[in-house]
Amino acid sequence: MPSCTRLCALLLTLLDPVLSGRAEDIDVVVFLPQNNSFLFSSARVAPALRYAQRRLEAGEGNSSVFHFHLHFHSSDSPNEALFALVDRSCARKPDLILGPVREYEAAGVARLASHWNIPMISAGALAAGFGDKNSEFSQLTRIAPQYVKMAETFSALFERFGWRSALLLYEEDKQERNCYFTLEGVYHLMSEYPISQFPVLEGVPLHVDEIVDSMNDSEVVIMCMGADRIRSIMLAAHRHQLTRGRKIFFSIELFNASTYGDGSWRRNDEHDSEAKQAYASLNTVTLLRTVKPEFENFSLEMKSSAEKEGIYDCKDCGSVNMFVEGFHDAMLLYAIALHEAMKHGYSKKNGTEVTSRMWNRTIEGIAGQVSIDTNGDRNGDFSVMAMTDVEAGTFEMVANYFGVNRTLELLPSFRAERFTLKERHEASPLPPEKSCGLGVSALTGVIVGAVLGAGMLIAFNFFRKKLQDYHLAAHAWQRA
Ligand SMILES: *[C@@H]1O[C@H](CO)[C@@H](O)[C@H](O)[C@H]1NC(C)=O
Ligand SMILES: *[C@@H]1O[C@H](CO)[C@@H](O)[C@H](O)[C@H]1NC(C)=O
Ligand SMILES: *[C@@H]1O[C@H](CO)[C@@H](O)[C@H](O)[C@H]1NC(C)=O
Ligand SMILES: *[C@@H]1O[C@H](CO)[C@@H](O)[C@H](O)[C@H]1NC(C)=O
Ligand SMILES: *[C@@H]1O[C@H](CO)[C@@H](O)[C@H](O)[C@H]1NC(C)=O
Ligand SMILES: *[C@@H]1O[C@H](CO)[C@@H](O)[C@H](O)[C@H]1NC(C)=O
Ligand SMILES: *[C@@H]1O[C@H](CO)[C@@H](O)[C@H](O)[C@H]1NC(C)=O
Ligand SMILES: *[C@@H]1O[C@H](CO)[C@@H](O)[C@H](O)[C@H]1NC(C)=O
Repeated sequence: MPSCTRLCALLLTLLDPVLSGRAEDIDVVVFLPQNNSFLFSSARVAPALRYAQRRLEAGEGNSSVFHFHLHFHSSDSPNEALFALVDRSCARKPDLILGPVREYEAAGVARLASHWNIPMISAGALAAGFGDKNSEFSQLTRIAPQYVKMAETFSALFERFGWRSALLLYEEDKQERNCYFTLEGVYHLMSEYPISQFPVLEGVPLHVDEIVDSMNDSEVVIMCMGADRIRSIMLAAHRHQLTRGRKIFFSIELFNASTYGDGSWRRNDEHDSEAKQAYASLNTVTLLRTVKPEFENFSLEMKSSAEKEGIYDCKDCGSVNMFVEGFHDAMLLYAIALHEAMKHGYSKKNGTEVTSRMWNRTIEGIAGQVSIDTNGDRNGDFSVMAMTDVEAGTFEMVANYFGVNRTLELLPSFRAERFTLKERHEASPLPPEKSCGLGVSALTGVIVGAVLGAGMLIAFNFFRKKLQDYHLAAHAWQRA
């Protein structure tokens, strides 16, 4: 406060709990599903929030003056979170909202949070549409790297290796739509490239020949779908001699890279050796994991909490996932921002002020640095994994992308020939889109999943608007 007089400083000292040492109660509502089939279920994330709470109340991060009151609400069905927020806010609005993670739920809550000026932090809401922070999502801070950040990895690779076109191949479940939103990030960021799409419906048999045909016009194939389907497609592509540099193949698996990593081609069937050869041409993009000493204690505690809760149903239970880590760091980020805002004379009720202090800043998170960009979205670090031993069929990290400085770093295990196209494609004009996949399916996705309520209507309008944008974008590059 450069211009503050001595009197003003004195008044602030008297009024400001940070300076006067009075504890400040922070009301936090947490929206997470009860269903443990989600990586971000309440039972998985709650121990991380409590861990952060303990650290903060013990005085780490200079916020010993805060008492956090965590109120958990389930958000299993689409509108639960939104309605719970409205109901409880009739009495008293919370100071901070954590979650929801899933896009359609988060959309409604984020709009309300912005309207009510309440800071909201989520380790989800990863879709490109949430990037518009000027109005409807002005209070939303995303503590996990959103899909557009992931797409930067591809953008950097395309630039480095001079690839010119991509096919997005994704599994469409019409509910969560994680793969759709994942590849939407690529579509959104790389609009200057000719990009075609091929949605594959969940639960419908794969037409691999049709899929292989759809690769004709693209140099790079980027896939997001279940491990078994990736295998079928890689096998088919291999049989059509599209591997070994005729195309460059990627799969995206942010949470579960081991499903595509070592030995993932193996099913103990007669196709194993062929699949191993095919996977020699498959690269996987995943989150870069960093580990620092204090993470060990956190990780052990999370593991023992999960065991106490009886959650054994996941392969990667031992390792803390992006959501668990993210929500922990969300508490730290908020505490630092609030502390700073109060030092400058603002109250916790000024969400705009608190939120703005969470943006454009880097904090030391539980697993490493967490850097939030000027738009309130976390910068992401990603790894590219590739098969480095074709005999054993094992994968290693070959490149890392650092979002904070937008640098692609090639590791010693990197082999340039794996990323070099054997033949160039003349960029041929794309066939007219059958149904404008990324747009229309967004709409039907909402209708299929809709219990017609406020949250869904909000999401519906939000995606209808996006749909129009997609149509515009699609037509723009088709004409070009
Ligand atoms: C939990 O979610 C999974 C996958 O979405 C679903 O199959 C299952 O029925 C759900 N369980 C409950 C108890 O709702
Ligand atoms: C805590 O306060 C000290 C001294 O004021 C400062 O140097 C340090 O950066 C603060 N730490 C955090 C996490 O805010
Ligand atoms: C793709 O190429 C194959 C072989 O060159 C051809 O048979 C097929 O018709 C092509 N498919 C499309 C959709 O262009
Ligand atoms: C991770 O992989 C395991 C084994 O294939 C699977 O059961 C699980 O559902 C996957 N988790 C996610 C989040 O994809
Ligand atoms: C983690 O650290 C805390 C305090 O430093 C300690 O009480 C706890 O036992 C540790 N947990 C594990 C699993 O090592
Ligand atoms: C919140 O802080 C901003 C400055 O960041 C100020 O312009 C605004 O008036 C404050 N709002 C309230 C409700 O105090
Ligand atoms: C972000 O922070 C840096 C210094 O930490 C500052 O120079 C820059 O102006 C800030 N950018 C915005 C958009 O606020
Ligand atoms: C970019 O950031 C990463 C992680 O902070 C660092 O390891 C790397 O050296 C940086 N690269 C450049 C070129 O600054």
